[in-house]
Amino acid sequence: MSSHNQLRRLTAPEIAARKGHEKIVCLTAYTAPMAELLDPHVDLLLVGDSVGMVLHGLPTTVGVTLEMMVIHGQAVMRGSSRALVVVDLPFGSYERSPQQAHKSAVTLMRKTGCQAVKVESGEGVAETISFLVERGIPVVGHVGLRPQATNVDGGFKAKGRSTAERERAMAEARATDRAGAFAIVVEGVAADLADEITRAVDAPTIGIGASPQCDGQILVTDDILGLFDWTPKFVRRYGNLRETISQAVQSYARDVRSGDFPGTAELYTLKIG
Ligand code: KIV
Repeated sequence: MSSHNQLRRLTAPEIAARKGHEKIVCLTAYTAPMAELLDPHVDLLLVGDSVGMVLHGLPTTVGVTLEMMVIHGQAVMRGSSRALVVVDLPFGSYERSPQQAHKSAVTLMRKTGCQAVKVESGEGVAETISFLVERGIPVVGHVGLRPQATNVDGGFKAKGRSTAERERAMAEARATDRAGAFAIVVEGVAADLADEITRAVDAPTIGIGASPQCDGQILVTDDILGLFDWTPKFVRRYGNLRETISQAVQSYARDVRSGDFPGTAELYTLKIG
């Protein structure tokens, strides 16, 4: 295998082919340095519209724009070389028509170089997914709890409490699958419903607050690193960066105030030449 091949990124068909036999490891990324740290360990990096809440302090993802996704998508592409990079189509950039979705997806792919886009697959989005796929744009669907629908749902609420909710999530997943999505994020649903969806669709499912039976898992990186005080029930923390950062900054502030920083090792001693 040539070094060029060894360095090439994973592709959408390679991710799709993992269904049922090799778990797909996914995380979110929004910046180049974080993408560089994650890239050797994950199969898929999602530039999620969660960036609005995680980095920009927005209350929901509804305020995220296509321009924001372009900037963060470019950064993640610069920082990574191996993982498949998927960028979210934000609220308002794809729902009006397949043509609107196509224009937004082309903007994202041209300006960032990302290999695929993700859409929240509510009813009616299936037509858009097949329109994009037929035109060479790999699509990841997103069913169950759909954060862009938070104003309709009245909050971020897990799905699967009623037969109607279960039927709706299953219908969204089947339609997304038939439309040609190469993977489907299943978010915030009862575990047995996630299992049913995983069995019912050909595309691999990527769970978040779903089930270990999903074909892959995704979490928000900042959540697993412990950068937030509060995290949803489905997050497992693998670090406590909040504490680490707080301690480091306290030490820095103490050293500046005491005059201990900068010390001689941190000073330039340049001779006039
Ligand atoms: O925006 C996002 O980060 C997402 C994942 C949490 C699946 O959609």
